Amino acid sequence: MKKTILFITGLLVTLCGSAKYYPSAEVQKSRDAFAADRFGIFLHWGLYSTFAQGEWYMQNEDIDRDEYAKAADGFYPHNFNAREWVKAFKAAGAKYITFTSRHHEGFSMWDTKQSDYNIMHTPYGKDIIKQLSKACQKEGIALHLYYSHLDWTRDDYPTGRTGLHTGKNPKKVDWAHYYQFMNAQLTELLTQYGPIRCIWFDGMWDHDSDATPFDWQLGPQYELIHRLQPGCLVANNHHQTPYEGEDIQIFERDVPGENTAEWNTTAISRLPLETCQTMNGMWGYKVKDQNYKSVDELIRLLVRTSGKGANLLLNIGPQPDGSLPAAALQRLEGMGKWLKKYGTTIYGTQAGPAQGGEKYATTRAGKKVYLHVLDPEMKEISFSLGFEAATLVTAFGKTKHLKWTQTGYNFTLRLDNDKDAPDNIYEITLR
Ligand code: GLC
Repeated sequence: MKKTILFITGLLVTLCGSAKYYPSAEVQKSRDAFAADRFGIFLHWGLYSTFAQGEWYMQNEDIDRDEYAKAADGFYPHNFNAREWVKAFKAAGAKYITFTSRHHEGFSMWDTKQSDYNIMHTPYGKDIIKQLSKACQKEGIALHLYYSHLDWTRDDYPTGRTGLHTGKNPKKVDWAHYYQFMNAQLTELLTQYGPIRCIWFDGMWDHDSDATPFDWQLGPQYELIHRLQPGCLVANNHHQTPYEGEDIQIFERDVPGENTAEWNTTAISRLPLETCQTMNGMWGYKVKDQNYKSVDELIRLLVRTSGKGANLLLNIGPQPDGSLPAAALQRLEGMGKWLKKYGTTIYGTQAGPAQGGEKYATTRAGKKVYLHVLDPEMKEISFSLGFEAATLVTAFGKTKHLKWTQTGYNFTLRLDNDKDAPDNIYEITLR
């Protein structure tokens, strides 16, 4: 009987591409922990960092893969210190990091046995992921790994709409071989580096213009991940409605529901949400890109994503020598200071009852609603509390009762804002 059921399920998976996914208790636990975290650090670091032109340099400048690969012989990040990195992220209030194990260029940042194009074959010769995983375990920070589905260097990857001019041999395309390669790499990552809380895929959009839809065989790959580490979450930055087997919905460069990036047209699902955003313009280190968002802007972004019930995955592009840009460290410090004081209104909260774009946001924890006023010029605010009734309102951390009214759903409060604060927080206690 069991065999027959397994056979039918297998058949359905083969026919439909993906079976209905029921997250295990371990996955549910990771989803809950993830959703409470609210703030993580994204790290784009790879061979591309040595060119200091961002992680798309190879594709943007049509660089020949063999010429590009020569950079591996000069990669020597002598200032890299995993523990210092992770300590700085922790002090900033981040609860997890997402590290690019292998980006579109195809270079692996760990001791992979599946290809020589990796960090062990540089003068540096040390496994970056091993060092990061140790540091994360010591500091109590969760480790997520970014993994590119597309590859601009390997012949076996069936090139899509990018990586067309990097000197690959189209006669050597071999999807079955590439798929096996990816799964072997994922197996290494999930069996040799302790707990990995999430595999974060990217690059599927490379085939979004194919005449016949490309079959990425996601189902069995996701199953492999969940089998190797039952608590590991699966995320995919494909900008589409989440597929079966995925545990997180990602909004690249957007607060969920805002779609300023133009590719975030999908509805917000019931999965845990994550917004990923850059501190400056590019993900990978780019020497010219000094257009950093201010600490205040980043705080407001974190508040706005929290208001939507989403995490903020804030990116840093480490320098070729392995150090973090001074501008990024300064932002981290500022956020850490703010979160130390106001973290109660962010961590472990849920989406609040009302969101006002750039002007205000609300988060909620139990019977508390935290109103974050982001525009200090606002004198009064009105929004719906739904069926809930307010009983008491104070400025966050203060005891003085403030004047408010509630008529039906509509709650109104006179504001007394500090004009210099990035966010004026008010605490509304519900009955
Ligand atoms: C895009 C870019 C990629 C980056 C990712 C981060 O998919 O292609 O370079 O890593 O966004 O969200």
